[in-house]
Amino acid sequence: MSLVFHISASPRGDRSASLEVARALLEEHRRLAPNDEVIHLDLFATELPPFDGPVLEAKYGIMHGRPATAPQREAWRAVERVAEQFKAADKYVFSLPMWNFSIPYRLKHYFDVIVQPGLTFNFDPASGYTGLVTGRPVVAIYARGGEYASPEAASLDMQKPYLETILGFIGLTDVHSIVVEPTLAGGPDAAKQRLQEAIARAKTVAAEVLGA
Ligand SMILES: Cc1cc2nc3c(=O)[nH]c(=O)nc-3n(C[C@H](O)[C@H](O)[C@H](O)COP(=O)(O)O)c2cc1C
Repeated sequence: MSLVFHISASPRGDRSASLEVARALLEEHRRLAPNDEVIHLDLFATELPPFDGPVLEAKYGIMHGRPATAPQREAWRAVERVAEQFKAADKYVFSLPMWNFSIPYRLKHYFDVIVQPGLTFNFDPASGYTGLVTGRPVVAIYARGGEYASPEAASLDMQKPYLETILGFIGLTDVHSIVVEPTLAGGPDAAKQRLQEAIARAKTVAAEVLGA
């Protein structure tokens, strides 16, 4: 039995293209691997710990061996809990819209919380950075209003490269992408067709990646 962790970053519920593809993927996965457990973290329905002054004080205090106050320890413990939940998974599914060419702020907040030395990566002056979350597959579902396939448009895409960079930084390099685009710019017929294509690909990916 594996634990599949679905992290979603669209607040659009039933209207969300990224969530619709994720639902199709996970439905197929449930059919193929009924004993797997699927946990859904909806980042627009979850209060993450703030990443503010007290947490940074705690973080740098711990890094530099300074004694932490009780509130600092508690602030850091909240960060650790979110990272521990993330690290407990065997397989990951991210579903996210492109917002202003990049990822929604709630997902950036999530990474700002979990990407921490000692939790998801290590640094050593001799060997540099090492990701600590290794050997697990990721399916990343990207929805975009426009289309970014051409070389000129691809340079505007800071959604997929960012996600792949941050995941690779913490050790997750086996990333399988499903892109649904354009959900807006091509009109409703093109959007519908691309959504169906993405759903078909999601079913293949469920078998080849999550089912493995
Ligand atoms: C705040 C905001 C910013 C957006 N920025 C972009 C953008 O930079 N490029 C783009 O192609 N689409 C952009 N869109 C459109 C979304 O990417 C598109 O509607 C996508 O289908 C949303 O995914 P969802 O349906 O899963 O929520 C933006 C939408 C919102 C709400």
